[in-house]
Amino acid sequence: MNWVLASDHAGVNLKKALLAYLEEHGHFAHDLGVENENESADYPDPADSAVEALLKGGADMGILVCGTGLGVSMRANRYKGIRATLLTDEFSAKAAKEHSNANVLCFGERITTEADALKYLQTFLENTFEGGRHQKRLDKLDAPLVTEE
Ligand code: RB5
Repeated sequence: MNWVLASDHAGVNLKKALLAYLEEHGHFAHDLGVENENESADYPDPADSAVEALLKGGADMGILVCGTGLGVSMRANRYKGIRATLLTDEFSAKAAKEHSNANVLCFGERITTEADALKYLQTFLENTFEGGRHQKRLDKLDAPLVTEE
């Protein structure tokens, strides 16, 4: 699978660990930056870079990392077609695939250890989207908002 990864300064180290894991497991992974902790970035910017690559077909999946995972997930989910999920536990990691069929995984380097994050990524990869009633719900995510009707 083709992955695109991006982070702000607070998520660089975990992002690199996730990228290494993906490559070790036969995936192609491209890092859109930032490169190091001294390169200060506003979290919407890395989120935009990764989502743009994904929506243009340059990748199948995205990973975004910031300090908490909150900012990048908020920004990514503003795009139609993006299902960004913050992974903070095993149950969420499983549901992110089985129920949400997430196409962007978000992590918080300041709240999740590297070992846990790799475990959540592995769990996500080992599971399968269940479709059915979940697909119906996902379709509603991209339906017009009540304020737009
Ligand atoms: C950066 O200090 C921090 O605010 C950011 O990485 C993230 O946690 C925001 O959600």
